[in-house]
Formats: sequence, structure tokens, C-alpha cells
Amino acid sequence: MALIDLNGVKLRNRLVTSASLLGYGASKSKLILYGLSPIAQWVPLERFGAVTTRTLSVQPREGNFSLREDWRLTEFPTMLKMYGRALREVDGGWMNAFGWCNIGIERYFEEYYPRTSAQNRIISVGGFSAEEMCSLVETVNSRAKPGEIAAVEFNVSCHNVNFPFETILEDVLRQSVPLSRHPIILKLSPDLDYVAQAQLAERTGIAALTAINAVKALRLDPETGEPFMKNRFGSISGRAIKPIGLRVVAELRDAGVKLPIIATAGIRTYDDCREFFWAGADAVSLGSAVWLTKMPLYALGPLEGLRIRRLMGRVARYEAPTQIREAWASHVPAPVEPVAVPVGPAEGATA
Ligand SMILES: Cc1cc2nc3c(=O)[nH]c(=O)nc-3n(C[C@H](O)[C@H](O)[C@H](O)COP(=O)(O)O)c2cc1C
Repeated sequence: MALIDLNGVKLRNRLVTSASLLGYGASKSKLILYGLSPIAQWVPLERFGAVTTRTLSVQPREGNFSLREDWRLTEFPTMLKMYGRALREVDGGWMNAFGWCNIGIERYFEEYYPRTSAQNRIISVGGFSAEEMCSLVETVNSRAKPGEIAAVEFNVSCHNVNFPFETILEDVLRQSVPLSRHPIILKLSPDLDYVAQAQLAERTGIAALTAINAVKALRLDPETGEPFMKNRFGSISGRAIKPIGLRVVAELRDAGVKLPIIATAGIRTYDDCREFFWAGADAVSLGSAVWLTKMPLYALGPLEGLRIRRLMGRVARYEAPTQIREAWASHVPAPVEPVAVPVGPAEGATA
């Protein structure tokens, strides 16, 4: 049941989950919570406005971690060392550098899509050329009927794959958006020219924006100077970036961007949600500040689950003050211009 229609992106309510924090929306098996926050088992995921998958690529990718799922107990120290170079708690948040470690879009549709049908899903995809993004869109078209998912989210703003996405963005949008049978959300990075990218998104038929991707960052071991993250600069998420997220949402609105905005940046409480609504967001998303915690604290999962369920209820019942309602009412869906699809090979991937 969709209650909120954000320019064609149909959500069950205004509280969604951010890309990757709940893996592919389901655990590998009852015993192995691989890729899914352990807290998720205490929350009915189908009650979220939508659940966003980890970014899926055309082919499986190890990224800066590993796709192995068969670690023996004796290999755990090695695995944890690798993990520590892809995800690490820092002051006020988390540094991550997974770099699109994922099983690939085909395996997602084989192994996880049928098991997550109760959820309203946003499928996140990422590629290094317009050609790859078109291929990802075609795969989603062929595997998911219109209306079966909320949207496809384009992640072409991630720092952890060390690729200059701004050089391919226009080609990506002009070529792949018209192909999609589903609404497309563009995810923005605060490190790129997000106002120009949002304006381009309005001209190329994007339905909504997600703000923000994790922020490019750096931490070094003070003894050795070695970067915490495997790709040197990782990106930071969580409480530390909440003010940056608020700034981006407000600046997009100040620039006259009318597309709906889904905000993700350190959101944890009902007041965080309300703050983002005031700044100009239409929906809010729970990311690392909710789903990640120190290992022993996962034991408090049932309590955190209760808190999240209460938050879901409060956001679902949220009545926006008049000023916010008026601002929402003024979001006119951007006119979709017909775009000419250039013929010829797209720029190749280098990553
Ligand atoms: C461990 C981890 C993995 C992430 N993986 C992805 C991803 O695969 N695709 C994506 O678009 N964003 C990814 N993100 C970024 C989040 O979806 C979100 O945009 C970012 O963390 C900011 O929101 P937050 O502060 O609420 O976590 C990841 C973040 C973290 C912490």
C-alpha cells in the first residue's frame, strides 16, 4: 500500500532505509546475518516506506573487502583485519571503503529479490559508463514489473571506487533514464557539484534525489601514517555528517530544485527527521547512525528494534506544519524533456 507519492516514487511512509545498510534486504540464512545489520532482525522491514539495497553492479565485485562467505574460524583474524580496512568507527560516525563489494545484479535477482517481496524496495545500481548503467536498467526492467519496486537508485557519486563520475553523469542520465520502466532516484554527493547535478537531473527525467552519499574523508594511524581505509580516502557517514546533509538539502531548495529529496545523513531520532523536513526533505532515511554500532552493543538489538518501531510509527503519523506542507505542495514534478540518445560506444570503465 503506497501512501506517499514522490513524483512517481511510491513510498509506504516517509521513513526509508539507506543504501547498503540492510544489505540486500534479507539475510543469507537464518544463522548468517551476512551483509545485514543484526539490528534488522528486530524490525519488520516491510513497514518502512522503502528499503534500499546495497549498490549492485553488472558483474560481482570484491571492492575493497571480499565476497567470501565461507570463512573458517581460524581465518577470522584475517577476515576481521580486512573488514577493519573497509569499515571502522571514528569520532561521530563511521568510515567505510567497501567500494561496491556486491554479488552482482543477476545473483541479487536470483537469491534475494524473491525473498524480499513483502518489502517496498529501492534497487541501488552503480556502473562506470553509460553503457553499464543502461545494462543495469535493462536488467531491472526485465526482472521487476512496473509498480513492483518503488524505484531504481543511481549511485554514481561514490568515492570508494575512485572514479570521476562527474565526467559520465550527463551521458548516464541522458541514455539510461529514458530506458527505465521504473522511476529513477539520483544519489548526490556533497563533494561534487550537487546543485548542478540536481538541475541536470530535473532536465533528464529523474524522479527524485537522495542526499547525501557518504562524505570523502581521511583518517591515518598516528603511529605509522597508514590510512585506516584500504583505498586511502574512505568516506564518512553518521552523526558527524548530519549538518552537512542539512546544508545540502537546504541549498538544493534555495537553488530552486523542485524534485523530491530523500535525506540520509546521520538520522537517528524523530527530531532528526523533523529537522530534515524543515530543511526541505520529503522523506528521511535511516543509515549508519541506526544500523551500525560497536560489536557488543548489537546485543541490545531488541531494545533498538523497539525504538526503531516507535520511530516508524511516529514518522508514519507525522503531520507536517503548514509551512512544510506548502513547500511540499510547491514541488511540481519536473517536465520530462524528450532526449536524443547518442549513438556509439559509451566511455569505458577504468575501475
Ligand atoms: C557501510 C556502508 C556501506 C555503504 N554502501 C553504500 C552503497 O553500496 N551504495 C550507496 O549508494 N551508498 C552506500 N553507503 C552510503 C549510505 O547509503 C548513506 O548515503 C551514507 O552513509 C550517509 O547516510 P548516513 O549518515 O545516514 O549513514 C554506505 C554507507 C555505509 C556506512
